[in-house]
Amino acid sequence: MSTWSPSSWREKPILQQPTYPDQAKLASVLTELKNYPPLVFAGEARSLKEQLSKVAQGKAFLLQGGDCAESFSEFHADNIRDTFKALMQMAVVMTYAGGLPVVKVGRLGGQFAKPRSSDHETQGDITLDSYRGDIINGIDFNEKARVPDPERMIKAYNQATATQNLLRAFASGGLADLHQVNKWNLDFAYKSEVGEKYEKLAEDIEKSLQFMEACGVTSKTYRTLRETDFYTSHEALLLPYEEAFTRQDSITGDWYNVSAHMVWIGDRTRQLDGAHVEYMRGIKNPIGIKAGPSMDPDDLVRLATAVNPDNEAGRLNIIVRMGANKVGEHMPQLIRAIEKEGLNVVWSCDPMHGNTIKSSNNYKTRPVDAILTEMKQFFQVHKAEGTFGGGVHLEMTGKNVTECIGGSFTVTEEDLSSRYHTHCDPRLNADQSLELAFLIADSLKDAHK
Ligand code: PEP
Ligand code: CO
Repeated sequence: MSTWSPSSWREKPILQQPTYPDQAKLASVLTELKNYPPLVFAGEARSLKEQLSKVAQGKAFLLQGGDCAESFSEFHADNIRDTFKALMQMAVVMTYAGGLPVVKVGRLGGQFAKPRSSDHETQGDITLDSYRGDIINGIDFNEKARVPDPERMIKAYNQATATQNLLRAFASGGLADLHQVNKWNLDFAYKSEVGEKYEKLAEDIEKSLQFMEACGVTSKTYRTLRETDFYTSHEALLLPYEEAFTRQDSITGDWYNVSAHMVWIGDRTRQLDGAHVEYMRGIKNPIGIKAGPSMDPDDLVRLATAVNPDNEAGRLNIIVRMGANKVGEHMPQLIRAIEKEGLNVVWSCDPMHGNTIKSSNNYKTRPVDAILTEMKQFFQVHKAEGTFGGGVHLEMTGKNVTECIGGSFTVTEEDLSSRYHTHCDPRLNADQSLELAFLIADSLKDAHK
């Protein structure tokens, strides 16, 4: 294979990139970014890989979730806190009711660039360039907003830095203490059936903690009771930005993406001879590859071998996103091809991207029922194949948004307009995410029977 460098992707065909009109400005922004401090350390990416290798062996479960697209306008400490709480709440349900440790990875602190199904958007008789995420251009439907502006990368970096800083504080400064288990329930969730189910679980955990305290095991004495490991991830789509944050680790001499612990390639940019795969094969972080219904089993094996030639456990996460009722048709062949070659992978389910529909009142939405169905089918197929369904990849928020329809605290099509805030795809709200967490917990228990 040819020599790799942080910029060798530039020699390959590339999809889903903006065309910057001001190339001089682009060059000067990239030079500036190359001098900016890393957001994560190589050693942390290695710790995540180590934890993911446990997932690959069926000894832990991966929970990855956050916004479809982070935005400059939704940037607020409360939003970050609530998504963090929702993830903690889901993790505790899976750990306590599902019986497995949970590796927590936010789709946060850098998830700004979006692949689009079309390069253009038409409203009435006006056609403009598509919105590609706040790191590239603006969402407003006017010509000026849609011009790609390199300065946005600097703003995105600053927002990612502040977000990751706050997440680190939450993870180690007290909010992740298991004694807070009750406080992770978000106010509105108390009212729903699943909120009550969580309350009951939280009471049980508190009783166990009291017992442990009586035995001398307290958050003062045990770090794992008061702190958690929380990692960050995003889609490595905008390669000039990712290249600027690709640095050589001084300890090992290996190259790492230091803007997140984990990065993934989307379903639209996973071509074997394309720029994104070229970029991914040279960094040592844990990485993900999305696999939609068009993924060919032999191509998946070729891809897995290209990006993980040493077959390192915990390095590669295959994120399957087929859509409800398509899992049984497409996933078994993928699993068999990977198993036949003895490749080490973490299998996760993204039950979001194959289940996007238009509501009758014209909102892009997702039925919670379809999401739950895809998740169930994912576990069933793995059970039948004798493999481990090891993770979930979600678009979710801790806010009480109305973007996906259904759930135990039912959101109807009419409700969509009341709190529809997403900058790209519809997210599960905290309540809907919690419902999914209980389903996952049941499936994990079942898988380990
Ligand atoms: C996404 O994760 O937001 C996304 C665009 O997914 P996919 O690449 O699976 O379509
Ligand atoms: Co999305």
